[in-house]
This record gives sequence, structure tokens and C-alpha cells, in this order.
Amino acid sequence: MDIRPIGIFDSGLGGLNVLKEIRKKLPKEDIIYLGDTKNFPYGNKTKENIIELSKNNIEFLIRKNVKLIVIACGTATSQALEEVKDKYSVPIVGIIEPTVEKIKENEKKQKIAVIATTGTIRSRAWEIELKRKIPKVEVISSACPLLAQMAEEGWTENEIARLTVKEYMKPFKNKEIDKIILGCTHYPVFTKLIWKELEGKVEIVDTGEKVAEYLEKLLKKYNLQNEQNNKKQEIYLTERQEKFKEIAEKLLGENIQIKDIEMY
Ligand code: DGL
Repeated sequence: MDIRPIGIFDSGLGGLNVLKEIRKKLPKEDIIYLGDTKNFPYGNKTKENIIELSKNNIEFLIRKNVKLIVIACGTATSQALEEVKDKYSVPIVGIIEPTVEKIKENEKKQKIAVIATTGTIRSRAWEIELKRKIPKVEVISSACPLLAQMAEEGWTENEIARLTVKEYMKPFKNKEIDKIILGCTHYPVFTKLIWKELEGKVEIVDTGEKVAEYLEKLLKKYNLQNEQNNKKQEIYLTERQEKFKEIAEKLLGENIQIKDIEMY
């Protein structure tokens, strides 16, 4: 048993989609969330920059005494996880491996689409992991750089969102895809639009759920579960954003307090 909190970070509010799933699966765990809003978006930054920002986020969470860190950001997972995972005293988990582990349980031939930020697609991290774990997989990837920005803006259900999703789904239309992975944690808010655009024929894979299932097993394996029931949750931002609170509350379905930090 370990009552220290789980640390989670993302460039903004996308990681809250992961936090939500972790809370559902592991309701007794305390959570500290960091949104690096000052440096949002990560999607178009260089790998070196993303590594440096990820290290800052990890070190902040370690100072908060977390027992484990979840990189709830596809961009940071794809470009910084390898670099940081063995450098710190706490386990660090990204979103790619837990998702692919789960998909792999279905061994049959699969055609999988991946949508993510420009940086994630450039890294080919999803494709490499999928091909490593599922020999017969066919992968089609495409970057959707505007979606994370629109999610931060709360533009997830309007006409602009619909048209943007329509445009981004073009490479996948009539391609007989089995699954589409939302490879950026900002994208689950567009699930309905994506589903409609692909005519409900494709399974939409949300990384949050898979990460939560993976964490449950990991905490058990290393005897790190919290058996107390405090449900403490702290949300920090590197820079206060006008709309963050409102959008985050809608996403989480509850009122939240936001704390500011000075880290840079
Ligand atoms: N939520 C992030 C991801 O999963 C990135 C969005 C961004 O900062 O560009 O990739």
C-alpha cells in the first residue's frame, strides 16, 4: 500500500480525459494533475524541446511526492518517454504501450488508423509499437494539428468542429478500417463527430481507458495501491487560461479548483 498520489501531466486539458478514466477505475487514488498551459501546444515543437518540458513537468510532480507518473500526452509519450523513463526514481508510464497492449489481445488481422499531433505522427511511435506487438497489423496515420487547439478553445461541437473533423477523416473514408486510435489525449471530445463521419463503422480507441486498466495492474503488481479513501485531487497549471476551468468542469462533470505554479 502506498498513499502517495499519482502524478499526471499534459500540455493542457487533454490529459483530463485520462484523469477521468483513472478516477473511474481507481477511485481511491489521490491525483496531482499538471497542465503545462504556458507551453501549449506541444504538437508542433521539436523533440529536444518536448524532452526538456517533460523533464520540468516530471520534476514538479516528483517534488509533490507522487508515487508514479502518467504522461497523459501522446506527443510527450512519443518523443520524451524513452529519454526520461529510467532517469527518475518513480515509474513513468505513457499512453502508447498500455493502449497497444490492450489492442494486441485481439490477434486477428487488423487495419488501424491513428490520428495525433504532427509531432507524434512524425515520430512514428504508434506505428512502430503497433507493428512490434501485432505482426499482421496495417497502420494508416494522419496528423490533425488543429484539433487540440480547438479542444482548448471549447470548439468541440460547433460547425467548425464538424467541418474540421470531416476534413481530417478523409484519408480514412471507405478504407475498411477496424479501429481508429485517438493518439492525442485532446481528441476524445471529438468522439461523436468522428464516429458520425466514419458512419459508425469503426471502433474508436480512447487511450484513457486503456491507461487506467494498465495502471490498475501495475499498482497491484508493485503493491502501490492506496487503500484509503481521501480522493484528493489537485490541478495545477503553468499559466492560467481564461477558459480552462469552464471547459475542464464540463469535461469532468464536477467543480474544480485550479492552482497556479511558478516553475520556469
Ligand atoms: N494532448 C497532447 C497529446 O496527446 C498534445 C496536444 C498539444 O499540446 O499539441 O498529444
